Amino acid sequence: MTKGYTVLGPEIVSDLHDPVRDFAYDALVGLSERPKRLSSKYFYDDAGSRYFQRIMSLEDYYPTACEREILTERAHEIISPMLGRGPFNLVDLGAGDGAKTKILLDALRAAKAEFTYVPIDISEGAMRTLVEAVRVEQPDTRVSGLVCEYVEGAHYLGRAFADRSNLVLFLGSNIGNFNRVQARAFLRRLWSSLRKGDCVLIGFDLKKDIEVLLRAYNDSEGVTAAFNLNLLTRMNRELGADFDVTKFRHYGTYSVFSGAMESYLVSLEPQVVRIDALEQSFSFDAWEPLHTEYSYKYLRADIDRMAADTGFSVIRQFEDSRGWFASSLWRVEIETKVPSPLK
Ligand code: AVI
Repeated sequence: MTKGYTVLGPEIVSDLHDPVRDFAYDALVGLSERPKRLSSKYFYDDAGSRYFQRIMSLEDYYPTACEREILTERAHEIISPMLGRGPFNLVDLGAGDGAKTKILLDALRAAKAEFTYVPIDISEGAMRTLVEAVRVEQPDTRVSGLVCEYVEGAHYLGRAFADRSNLVLFLGSNIGNFNRVQARAFLRRLWSSLRKGDCVLIGFDLKKDIEVLLRAYNDSEGVTAAFNLNLLTRMNRELGADFDVTKFRHYGTYSVFSGAMESYLVSLEPQVVRIDALEQSFSFDAWEPLHTEYSYKYLRADIDRMAADTGFSVIRQFEDSRGWFASSLWRVEIETKVPSPLK
């Protein structure tokens, strides 16, 4: 097996990084900065992944419904560049519960395409559930799951499946959790793992009425707040911290300057929090923010530029009926064996 990964079962590959050590290091760096910050990738422990499943079914959180509409109505157009080209991988970066991908899996089966489904997700719990569900619901679909971060997944892809073409899905506006520089670097790295003619379908949340954005990230049922606060519960459990979750509140705001929804946990009073794993305490002033997430929103022109800058061409761009979300289908157009510092 490729160095850095281990096989957990016939269908699941997991990486060998020490996730708690990485989390502790990032907590130390982030909580030592001003303003304090922690990456949104730490939202997704098993409880956080379950909260996110609930968010995706909320009326206020529109991106999921928009993207589902696009995939349902345009499934055949999305898969058609891969048909008639022999066996390929359907790679699903940040697969979660795979609910939206199942729409494309059905379309591929109906088209009698020969493919292997390769879901990649950071949550092992979510991956086990997904792989099991596909095996039960679609026993004739070949599936090979990877538990790792997207960037590692892209890297693994280039090595382990170098002889097959790929349709890579990066759904759910996950790209929006990277800032523009990170997004560019990630896409360039993905490009360097792919072959000429491979395709990528990326979900971009478009800029829109700010009230719609604010509602989506401050939903009326409080699920997004619970999702954000779960980060503190996770630090308590995994790092031996003693955060009192009732002494923080969720705050989601939109910055027209950066073009991102920004999420924070705000300390409601002066307090000191101990983190045993770091053998250190951190003080919070009243109203001091801890930044936890960026969700960047895109203009159509931003998408075209991003594709051109990272070595892709836009084949088609599909939008939902409200014009709130874009699923952009890109193709690797040039030979990818150029030495790249981002490889
Ligand atoms: C996973 N990601 C694309 C979601 C987003 O919209 O940024 C995570 C999320 N955060 C709050 N609500 C949903």
